[in-house]
Amino acid sequence: MIDISDRVRNKDLQSKIVSAEEAAAFFKPGMNVACSGFTASAYPKAVPLALAERMKKDPFTVNIWTGASTGPELDDALAQVHGIGKRLPYQTDKTLRSEINDGSVNYCDLHLSESAQLGRYGYLGKVDVALVEACAITEEGNIIPTTSLGNAASYVQQADKVIVEVNTTQPLDLEGMHDVYVPLDPPERQPIPIVKASDRIGTQYIPCTPDKILYIVPCDIPDHTRDLKPIDENSKKMSELTLDFLAKEVKAGRMPKNLLPLQSGVGNVANAVMAGFVDSELENLSVYTEVIQDGMLDLIDAGKLTIASGTAFSPSPAGMKRFYSDVPKYKKHLLIRPEEISNSPEVVRRLGVIAMNTAIEADIYGNVNSTHITGTKMMNGIGGSGDFARNAYLTIFYTPSVAKDGKISSIVPMCSHIDHTEHDVDIIITEQGIADLRGLAPRERAEVIINNCAHPDYRPMLLDYFKRATESTKHAHTPHIISEALSWHQRFIETGSMK
Ligand code: COA
Repeated sequence: MIDISDRVRNKDLQSKIVSAEEAAAFFKPGMNVACSGFTASAYPKAVPLALAERMKKDPFTVNIWTGASTGPELDDALAQVHGIGKRLPYQTDKTLRSEINDGSVNYCDLHLSESAQLGRYGYLGKVDVALVEACAITEEGNIIPTTSLGNAASYVQQADKVIVEVNTTQPLDLEGMHDVYVPLDPPERQPIPIVKASDRIGTQYIPCTPDKILYIVPCDIPDHTRDLKPIDENSKKMSELTLDFLAKEVKAGRMPKNLLPLQSGVGNVANAVMAGFVDSELENLSVYTEVIQDGMLDLIDAGKLTIASGTAFSPSPAGMKRFYSDVPKYKKHLLIRPEEISNSPEVVRRLGVIAMNTAIEADIYGNVNSTHITGTKMMNGIGGSGDFARNAYLTIFYTPSVAKDGKISSIVPMCSHIDHTEHDVDIIITEQGIADLRGLAPRERAEVIINNCAHPDYRPMLLDYFKRATESTKHAHTPHIISEALSWHQRFIETGSMK
């Protein structure tokens, strides 16, 4: 077994070090297993792999709660053996996605800022065991987290029993990068005292006591982070449109020169937008976000970023290598918080965050679908997009104007599912252009969205729909031909194209 005695600083706790197989024997059917992990960062690996092996011989399911998505050693390994009964609050794994969409897994897709308190309120039953990755365990039994916090602190607080995976691939230098604060629940909840993205309000560890710790398991499997695709032309265009728009906002006096704290969603468009900031004139930027990706390391290297506060540090493998090469340098600019705080509506509203997230589709009135394909199949989940979208100072949604080689228009008459309503969406950006919806009535919005954002192949069809809907409803507030509003999706299902 890997030697982790230097990382388990409480000598008595060293007697609880066991193999992953021994720890996996503890799990029972139907247990609520609350895990650390957010994106492919800081999720437990050795124990879920051993549990999946056990489930191969002895099939049963457990319910998996996490911070958000995780890596293949947890979601994929357990989904492959049909070992997940209920999953929350977010996921991105392909195997699990098919099980969610074939009805074999009950998926509870939640606003991430609310997921910890939902557990605390007890709607889902109690946490039977918290399974968390750690860098080290202190003399007092406190847990030093690794590359994300997610809901780990709240899950440890809720659990009677905690299994800690001490991951030796995570440098001890990570200590000090975290700020752990778990709010009290109403009516005792206090204001969260963050007034700047850089404010520290909590502890540098997850509070825990030795008696709660059931087992400690050594692990030497690194975070399974993913490569980013090279920045494509569409993403580059969307990034340029964003910078141009923000420059105009500064000029109009609506934002300071260094903007307001930035939040950027996950994925390639988000990363391209952040890359655009590196080449810009902007300086002294701050980030109050959920996931810290490569683009933010680039901004630190360029001397343009004072602080990036998030709940997960999730760069590409190359970005991780860069980070590990000089943790103390990057650590000065990075702060990892529980997702209840990184995504807190209260803090997001107070700081005046600029929220930049990706949509699957948007409709002509500005409603946004971030989660469902043709209204029924779950893609990933709402994640933190709703936490930020509703509460930000400025809410931007990105989508390429078409998907699937042009067979799908991302601007549709009516979204087949709505995660972010027209009231939450300020700006829509596609590679075709930008629609600034602030202060516009629905009929005004439709014209701007169709003319500025829709693909030319679909623009005439959308204008025609809007004209007929306006006429047939005699200029109703939000004109629709109800029998036709979802016909584009129906056509795609029947013919493979919305054209
Ligand atoms: N209809 C059908 N399929 C569509 C589509 C549409 N309107 N738009 C995109 N797709 C498909 C793409 O073709 C692609 O399919 P593939 O995997 O078979 O290639 C897939 O959806 C993903 O699209 P892609 O363009 O690669 O988008 P992405 O990786 O940038 O992800 C979201 C976009 C919306 C799925 C992703 O951002 C997400 O899950 N968002 C919700 C959570 C969130 O916003 N988190 C951050 C908040 S802090």
